[in-house]
Amino acid sequence: MKRFVDLADLTREEVTALLELARRLETRPEPHALAGRILGLVFLNPSLRTLASFQAGMARLGGSSFVITPGQGTWQLETTLGAVMDGAAAEHVREGIPVLASYCDALGIRAFADGKDLAVDLAETRFNAMAGLVDKPLINLESAINHPCQALADWKTLDDLAVPRAGRFVLSWAYHPRALPIAVPAAVLHMAALRGMEVIVLRPEGFALPKPLMDKARSAAELSGGSVRETDDRDEALSGAHILYAKEWGATACYGQPEADAALRARLTGWCVRNDWFERAAPDCRLMHCLPVRRNVAVADEVLDSARSIVQREAYNRLTAQMAVLYRLLKGK
Ligand code: CP
Repeated sequence: MKRFVDLADLTREEVTALLELARRLETRPEPHALAGRILGLVFLNPSLRTLASFQAGMARLGGSSFVITPGQGTWQLETTLGAVMDGAAAEHVREGIPVLASYCDALGIRAFADGKDLAVDLAETRFNAMAGLVDKPLINLESAINHPCQALADWKTLDDLAVPRAGRFVLSWAYHPRALPIAVPAAVLHMAALRGMEVIVLRPEGFALPKPLMDKARSAAELSGGSVRETDDRDEALSGAHILYAKEWGATACYGQPEADAALRARLTGWCVRNDWFERAAPDCRLMHCLPVRRNVAVADEVLDSARSIVQREAYNRLTAQMAVLYRLLKGK
C-alpha cells in the first residue's frame, strides 16, 4: 500500500486484512516496529481525534511525528493555484508541501471542502493539488468528500460489536446550525455498502447526497451483496435498524449558498436524535457519530449518555485502525 486516501482504492479483502492487522497490533503490540520513522501531519482545518490518534499511534509503534497547523506558529499556506499572494499567506503549498514531505517518511494532510462549488469539491481539487506534490506515502486526514480513516475505524467498531454484516445501517442527517462538509457521510456510506450492509440514507428534502457518491456506494454494495437506498421516511428507515449513524451535512440542493441553506435547515431543528427515534429499531440498535457532536442539537443527551451510544468506541478505534495504516504504509505486511 503506497497511499491511504480512499477506502475505495482497496478491495474488500484488503480492508478486512487491514482490520485483522489492527486487531493483531491491539492484542500483540509492536512498540519498536516503526523506530526511527517520522510522520508529518498537516492540518489546514481543526481536529481533536485525528491529530491526537495519529500522534499517539505513531508513538505506540516506536516512531515520531510533527504537526503543522498553517497560520498558527507557522506560515499561512496558500492553496489556490495561480493566486496572487498579496494577502495573509506567506507561502504556497507548492513549496511548503514538498518541503514538509522531504522531512518525513509519510505525510498526512487534512484539507476540507471549500464548500462553494460542488463540482470542485467532488473532484477533490484542493486535496489533490497537494497530494500531487507528495512523493512519500500519503494519508488523507479528511478531504472534501472523504474521510477514509474514520470509515476504517467505523468498520472495525461494527466488527468489534458483532453488528451483523447484512444488518440495516441507517445514515441519518442530523441538525446543525451551519452547513457542514459531506466527507464523513460520503465515506461512511461507502464503507457500510462495502461491508455488505443494507444501507439507507435518511435525509430531508434538499439534503440528498450527490449522485456520484450514491453511485459509488451502490457499486461497492454490488460487489459485497449489500444494498443502498435513500428516503425521508424516518419510521420506515429505522424499522429494524441495527445502526443509526447520525451526521450533519450541508444542503446539496443549494450547495455554496449559505442563506438558502439556512432557510432550508431552519425548519429542521427536530432532526435531533432522541430516544423515540429508536422505537421501531432492533432492540440493540446502536448510535454512531464520528464526533465532534453538538449535544441536544444533533443528538440528545439521553441518547449519547445511553448504552446505545458507541461514539467512544469509534473514537478509540481511530487509534487502532490508523496504527494498521501506518504499519502497512511504512513497514509492509
Ligand atoms: N472524527 C474526526 O475526524 O474528528 P476530528 O475532526 O476531531 O479529527
